[in-house]
Amino acid sequence: MPAALVTGAASGIGKATAERLRSDGYDVLGFDLEDGDLSTREGNRLAVDTALERFGRLDVVVANAGVQHVAPVAEFPEDRWDGILAILLTSPFLLAKYAWDALHESSGRFIAVASAHALVASPNKAAYVAAKHGVLGLVKTLALEGLQATAVCPGYVRTPLVEKQIPDQARTHGMSEDDVLEEVILAPHAVKRLIEPEEVANVIAFLAGPGGSAFSGVPVTMDLGWSAR
Ligand SMILES: NC(=O)c1ccc[n+]([C@@H]2O[C@H](COP(=O)([O-])OP(=O)(O)OC[C@H]3O[C@@H](n4cnc5c(N)ncnc54)[C@H](O)[C@@H]3O)[C@@H](O)[C@H]2O)c1
Repeated sequence: MPAALVTGAASGIGKATAERLRSDGYDVLGFDLEDGDLSTREGNRLAVDTALERFGRLDVVVANAGVQHVAPVAEFPEDRWDGILAILLTSPFLLAKYAWDALHESSGRFIAVASAHALVASPNKAAYVAAKHGVLGLVKTLALEGLQATAVCPGYVRTPLVEKQIPDQARTHGMSEDDVLEEVILAPHAVKRLIEPEEVANVIAFLAGPGGSAFSGVPVTMDLGWSAR
């Protein structure tokens, strides 16, 4: 049976992806904060070692765990910058490094859940935007070094990560929380709706399967028209 590691699997996109891959017949190790801290080297090592011990192989690694912090650069807490880079950029690097041999052996796939913010910026999200641009660079480099790697780039998805931003955005923009969803969050989408986590999981399952065989070193953008402008 093929085996997958999905990080950030307790919530949102990671949870939907773990469920989807299980229903597609994968053995799946979902790894989240209760299993270890992916902002540390030890946490990433533990995630890969646990999957290899449990399944004896790894065919798919989905680097998905993430957090957000909304603040202008002049006020951006430096520790939050470090923490966001650790989870969004360094964790995918460490996962790819530690899973390198196993993925080579299985001709496996490395899939980073990046973001439309890997391609375009928004104000007040310096660490997130910088890290997501960085993870696309990582995926391109992995591809050139021989690992089949892609970066899924969704627009806004209906998950706690987005729901938690609404009060911060309301404060930063001086708006009500209802107006923030309509006028700030959905403003960049040409199609004015949130993406569902299962839609992202479908794309990850496609990239992991036979249909994804020619995708490597690229962003796979699913942003409801955001980056078209
Ligand atoms: N929600 C969106 O609109 C959206 C859009 C584009 C990309 N993304 C990306 O999708 C990924 C998943 O986000 P989501 O929206 O499902 O968020 P979420 O908050 O629902 O889930 C993220 C998960 O990551 C886990 N996590 C965070 N830090 C961790 C750590 N240090 N160690 C272990 N686990 C940790 C959390 O516990 C949580 O379960 C993130 O990389 C995010 O940047 C989200």
